[in-house]
Amino acid sequence: MLQGKSILLIIGGGIAAFKALDLIRRLRERGARVTPVLTGAGAEFVTPLSVSALAGEKVHQDLFDLTAEAEMGHIELSRAADLVVVAPATADLMGKMAGGLANDLASTLLMATDKRVLIAPAMNVRMWDHPATRRNAGTLRGDGILFVGPNNGDMACGEFGPGRMAEPLEIVDAIDTALGDGPLRGRHVLVTSGPTHEPIDPVRYIANRSSGEQGAAIAAALRDLGARVTFVTGPASVPAPAGVEVVAVETARQMLEAVEAADPAEAAIFAAAVADWHVTGASDQKIKKDASGLPTLGFAENPDILATVSQRDTGRPALVIGFAAETENVVENATAKRARKGCDWVLANDVSPETGIMGGAENKVHMVTADGVEEWPRLDKHEVAARLAAKIAEALG
Ligand code: C5P
Repeated sequence: MLQGKSILLIIGGGIAAFKALDLIRRLRERGARVTPVLTGAGAEFVTPLSVSALAGEKVHQDLFDLTAEAEMGHIELSRAADLVVVAPATADLMGKMAGGLANDLASTLLMATDKRVLIAPAMNVRMWDHPATRRNAGTLRGDGILFVGPNNGDMACGEFGPGRMAEPLEIVDAIDTALGDGPLRGRHVLVTSGPTHEPIDPVRYIANRSSGEQGAAIAAALRDLGARVTFVTGPASVPAPAGVEVVAVETARQMLEAVEAADPAEAAIFAAAVADWHVTGASDQKIKKDASGLPTLGFAENPDILATVSQRDTGRPALVIGFAAETENVVENATAKRARKGCDWVLANDVSPETGIMGGAENKVHMVTADGVEEWPRLDKHEVAARLAAKIAEALG
């Protein structure tokens, strides 16, 4: 599983840094390539020579290393790996990550990466329990950062409790999981998400209240099961998850183009709130208020991306899933929609304003398939995503 994978390993400044040397060995034994980064404090605990000798690679230490910038800039360094691992992750590094600081090589790489980040915290038990560290850990979890450990145990400082870095083999296991050794490993899935913006003129557009949260959560859940995810997103207010291939679009027509251009997928989940219409003859100059009277907007129907893909003669994904955002007769409308669009499953949700679902954190779903209707309890959008991803994995077999 680790064979041929590339790990960017950031070694922070803590006594547990010595375990990072063993971690490098274990990863290389399994066929992974390790590109090491040593922080200034890390270099107080392990020498650059031992790190690079074990990794069989140059150790990166300096943000302003001109030779390294000429050979491989720090942005590229942060993107070339399959996974970024921080071991040990000190309280200081966690604070920098949570605060978005980028004042040395390690923190800059962590800000610039588009890959998943797994951290193995290691610090004194009181530092781990400190409210600031609790806050930072919460922020990092919310940002999608993966954790392994810390463990309970005797610490180098003589105290006992949580704060001991996870053992190298535990970190190897967590890396395996993070790299997606799940039931969807090697499968390609497509997810659309977010609203679309349909321009009226260069500064005005028609949009809807979709935050893109449900689509982003679905993409992340599929990724967590090992899938390769193409994530075609309109201008959403939540960020795209790390570790998926993002194709950013604005309009429904661009979204269709991006979906058509994507590699063939085994499953496609259409979670985008696509605008039904676009404005015809959108002005390429800002429409002036003092022009002759009120502007009149003409509309034309947008392509129905879900129906187009569902009704493809060739290259149709084995599983096509749509959403039905309804404000009344949810199940009846969703059942009719499934037949009309030609998709396999419809996840129906009630988006009437009193539910708070559109733009909110939770969702209440009815899943409509050829076999009937399954009612799900009101769940956090991440739980909805995890359930759906598990059902997709089961269906693809
Ligand atoms: O027809 P309606 O907009 O209610 O259908 C919702 C479902 O169809 C969602 O899955 C949405 O992503 C998809 N859709 C689409 N292209 C459109 C309109 C909706 O893919 N133009």
